[in-house]
Amino acid sequence: MTAGARTWLVTGSSAGLGRAIVTELLARGETVAATARNPDALSDLRPSPPSLLWTAQLDVTDPERIRQVVDDAVDALGHIDVVVSNAGYGLFGAAEEATRDQVERQIQTNLTGPIHLAQAVLPHLRARGHGRIIQISSIAGQGAAPGMAVYCATKRGVEGFFESLAAEVKSFGIGVTIVEPGSVRTSFFDRGKEVTAALPAYAGTPVAALRDRVEDGRVSCRGDLAKMAGAIVDAATRPTAPLRLALGSDAYRLIRHGLTARLAELEEQKHIALSTDTSYA
Ligand SMILES: NC(=O)c1ccc[n+]([C@@H]2O[C@H](COP(=O)([O-])OP(=O)(O)OC[C@H]3O[C@@H](n4cnc5c(N)ncnc54)[C@H](OP(=O)(O)O)[C@@H]3O)[C@@H](O)[C@H]2O)c1
Repeated sequence: MTAGARTWLVTGSSAGLGRAIVTELLARGETVAATARNPDALSDLRPSPPSLLWTAQLDVTDPERIRQVVDDAVDALGHIDVVVSNAGYGLFGAAEEATRDQVERQIQTNLTGPIHLAQAVLPHLRARGHGRIIQISSIAGQGAAPGMAVYCATKRGVEGFFESLAAEVKSFGIGVTIVEPGSVRTSFFDRGKEVTAALPAYAGTPVAALRDRVEDGRVSCRGDLAKMAGAIVDAATRPTAPLRLALGSDAYRLIRHGLTARLAELEEQKHIALSTDTSYA
C-alpha cells in the first residue's frame, strides 16, 4: 500500500494503545473508524475536519455486532484500508485459579473476537484487492510467564491464526502484521486487568509474586506509548507488511532469548525427531 490518507478501523479505542493509535492517525490526517465498548470515551477526540473520525459502540465478544459495525463503517466511510484489532485485556493468576467464566471471557475477547473481526472485514478488503490487518498480540504471544497462562494462550492463539491467515490472503493483496509489544503503561495493569481469586497453595510462588506486583502497581513498563503507536502506524504503511513487529527492548530480548533456546532444544533432540519417520517414507 502506498503512502497517503487511508481509512482505518481500530477496536478498543477508549484507552491505552488503541487510543494512542487513533490519536496518531488523526494527527496524520488519516480517516478513522474508532470503536469502543463505550463510545462516550471518544467524545473528546475532535479532529479537524471532524469527518476524519467515525465512532461506533463495539464489544468484540459480540460477533453479530462486529459484522454490523464493519458493514456500517464501510457504508459511512466508503471503504476500510487497515484494521487494527487491538481490544484486549490481561487475566492474571494461576491457571487453576481461573473460573470457567474468566477463561471464556479472556478467550472471547483476545482470540475469538479478533478471528470474527478478520472474517467480517476480509470480504471488503478482498473486494478492493488490497488492505492490511494489524493484530495486536504481545510479548506473551512468543514467551510464557507463570501467572498469565490463559492470557498467553490467547496471544499464542492469535499468533497461529494470523500467521496462517497471512499466507491465505497474501495473493489477494492483503497484508497481515502481528504486533508484539513489550510492557507499556496503559490501563492494562490497572483498571483493564482481571485477577483470579488466589489459592493458598500458590503463596510464595512466581504466580503470587506477579499477582502482588500487578495489584500493587509495581510492574515496570519500558515502552513509550506514543512511540509504539507511531511504529505500528508506520509498519502499516510500508509497501510490504512485516509478518511480525516486536516493540520495546524487553520484547526484543525475551523473543530473542526464547527463539534461541527453542532452536537449541530442537537441535539437541534432532536425532529423536529424525528417528520417528516411517522406514518406507
Ligand atoms: N500494556 C501492555 O503492557 C501490553 C503489552 C503487550 C500487549 N498489550 C495488548 O495491547 C492491547 C491494548 O491493551 P492496552 O495496553 O492498551 O490496555 P488498556 O489501556 O486497558 O486498553 C484496552 C482496550 O481494550 C478495550 N477492551 C477490553 N475488552 C473489550 C471488549 N470485550 N470489547 C471491546 N473493547 C474491549 C478496553 O475498553 P474499555 O475502556 O471499555 O475497558 C480498552 O479500550 C491488548 O490487546 C493487550 O493485550 C498490552
